[in-house]
Amino acid sequence: MKIAIVGASGAVGQEFLRVLEERNFPVDELLLFGSSRSAGKVYEFLGKPVTVKELKHNDDFKGVDIAFVSAGAGASKEYAETITKHGAIMIDNSSAFRMDEDVPLVVPEVNAEDALNRPRGIIANPNCTTIQMVVALKPLEKLSHIKRIHVSTYQAASGAGAAAMDELENQYKQIVNGEKPTVEKFAYQLAYNLIPQVDVFTDNGYTKEEMKMHNETRKIMHSDVAVSAMCVRVPALRAHSEAVWIETERPISVEEAREAFGKAEGVIVQDNPENKEYPMPLFVATKDPVYVGRIRKDISNPNGFSFWCVGDQIKKGAALNAVQIAEYLIAIKQ
Ligand SMILES: NC(=O)c1ccc[n+]([C@@H]2O[C@H](COP(=O)([O-])OP(=O)(O)OC[C@H]3O[C@@H](n4cnc5c(N)ncnc54)[C@H](OP(=O)(O)O)[C@@H]3O)[C@@H](O)[C@H]2O)c1
Repeated sequence: MKIAIVGASGAVGQEFLRVLEERNFPVDELLLFGSSRSAGKVYEFLGKPVTVKELKHNDDFKGVDIAFVSAGAGASKEYAETITKHGAIMIDNSSAFRMDEDVPLVVPEVNAEDALNRPRGIIANPNCTTIQMVVALKPLEKLSHIKRIHVSTYQAASGAGAAAMDELENQYKQIVNGEKPTVEKFAYQLAYNLIPQVDVFTDNGYTKEEMKMHNETRKIMHSDVAVSAMCVRVPALRAHSEAVWIETERPISVEEAREAFGKAEGVIVQDNPENKEYPMPLFVATKDPVYVGRIRKDISNPNGFSFWCVGDQIKKGAALNAVQIAEYLIAIKQ
């Protein structure tokens, strides 16, 4: 297959290179794209050098089967037509089209078949915090309909891109050296801190990131569930964590939830509190599955249930999810 990665120099773009290699994805030819800033840079794929081309309005996407796009919402909107006009399927990691009715929003473990109906040739990859939550929620929804979700997120620096990850690492070095830490990518110093804001605020007091969790969860799960999220940036480097409280139509027990998580696709249960075993971002970084632990009844609500989940947001929250969508399309020859 002829594959393109747009935004190849970025945190997600670099992960695409690793994930495609790791999964032995059937790549015959690989094209890499970026802005003028990264055009000319060379990355290695399967032992061979590939040079980044500048993304332009031309016919570079002729013959491309699948384009994995992760260059921000502005670039996705501007170049969608150029990317798809010769028939390439655009799997887009940005927020540009996620809530458009004629663009499916897909997490393969939850709603893979939605990817088959793509009138514009675009499939949207959901927001990273939403992806890991719905993978964990899918087995519980099968037990009893989830009516309400309260979720608090603990989001790693790399969720804001490669430069943000570098900024956090540099801040710790600068502080150790007695220097004033550089603050550019986040509103405040993130080292030794946490910031209760991810993305910009909307009129209702929630941030855009928090509203994405509400809107995207409903679209992916085809559900009327109400989601109230509080998204917080924390000084972890990679992998997002979430404390999740749900209310189901009938009470579900810890035993049945544990069994359902255990059988669910893409979920690993790591829940042995007596031995201090629970998922943590330091150890989940670079892993494929969503890890679930601290599984318990919510003592404040008879129909309530609570758990903790951790997922690598650059991997399952972005590159891996997009590649799994492509693998699903290849498997069913669509
Ligand atoms: N980081 C995450 O955990 C994560 C998770 C899920 C989704 N996403 C989404 O994925 C996208 C990329 O995120 P990231 O974290 O990889 O960001 P990043 O590290 O800042 O990388 C951005 C990439 O986009 C390219 N780019 C920017 N403007 C461009 C343009 N006009 N034309 C062509 N290429 C352009 C950049 O190329 P240059 O180097 O040439 O500027 C770079 O390769 C965003 O939409 C983000 O919301 C990120």
